[in-house]
Amino acid sequence: MSVISAFTQSALGDLKRLAFGPGVEPGSRKATVIAISARKGGVGKTTTTVNLGVALAQNHGKRVLLVDMDAQGHVATSLSRDRLDRPGDTLSTVLLEKRRDLQEIVAPTAIDGLWTVASDTNLHETETLLSARIGKELCLRQALKLARTHFDIILIDCPPNLGTLTVSALVAADKVLIPCDLSTLGLDGVDALFDTVETIQDSLNPTLSVLGLVRTRVDRRNLTMNAAIESTLSTRYAGHLMGSIIGISSSVPKAQLEGRSVLTSDPKSRGAEDHAALATEVLGRLR
Ligand SMILES: Nc1ncnc2c1ncn2[C@@H]1O[C@H](COP(=O)(O)OP(=O)(O)OP(=O)(O)O)[C@@H](O)[C@H]1O
Ligand SMILES: [Mg+2]
Repeated sequence: MSVISAFTQSALGDLKRLAFGPGVEPGSRKATVIAISARKGGVGKTTTTVNLGVALAQNHGKRVLLVDMDAQGHVATSLSRDRLDRPGDTLSTVLLEKRRDLQEIVAPTAIDGLWTVASDTNLHETETLLSARIGKELCLRQALKLARTHFDIILIDCPPNLGTLTVSALVAADKVLIPCDLSTLGLDGVDALFDTVETIQDSLNPTLSVLGLVRTRVDRRNLTMNAAIESTLSTRYAGHLMGSIIGISSSVPKAQLEGRSVLTSDPKSRGAEDHAALATEVLGRLR
């Protein structure tokens, strides 16, 4: 390498470091960012995020980042056995400080291609601090600029409420995946989320679109109730309703207790198969 080109390379490196902070370089990928969101608690947002992420990495060779925007920290709990801790700054620090990027704090897991950004115990306070700022809704979008170039898919686990963190996730996202249990309250939550998505499309993120509505925690024995809710869902949201259905399976909470994904803990179980089918359908819809 000539002296001049070596100098140019080093100057380019310096420029990149100035633009993206210390220790991180831009990659060559362009991730699709998917927010997993529902306006109801306990419908399976975290379970879907974790198992979908593992299936995309393990079965499809995708490079996947899971971002936990919920102070409950359930992504880390669900993967406690496979997650490799990364000392250093927290999600709160990165969201609060300008010109920081999530890529600085991604942590690997024992699963090839799967990385995480954990939530932290200060996230509630962080949300309050962010709420007082102009442009607060853009904090995650800005903090994902560099991370996006290192992954194929970024999945964001949202909290159940419509606070600044959820809005910032919907503003950062290209797509929203909506888990819905087959209950009347679940249906209300879906209606409320579609209203929210419309508001975000009209204001802060015109390119946001619904990836799909996935039925979760489905107890196949509840024939009458399931049929009633499904009929309403397919009337209101026909094009959005996904074919894959995540049934209730004891393998799912059992895997969470072990701190692993159901795909690694019990790969032949119904829970693993349902999530694997969802990953295939998600990729089909992204294409
Ligand atoms: N397919 C399933 N089969 C059996 N149990 C499930 C299934 N999916 C989720 N669960 C259980 O339902 C509960 C809620 O799931 P999860 O935490 O994923 O929901 P959530 O929407 O993220 O909740 P929150 O609103 O509190 O963040 C958990 O105890 C989980 O183990
Ligand atoms: Mg959750």
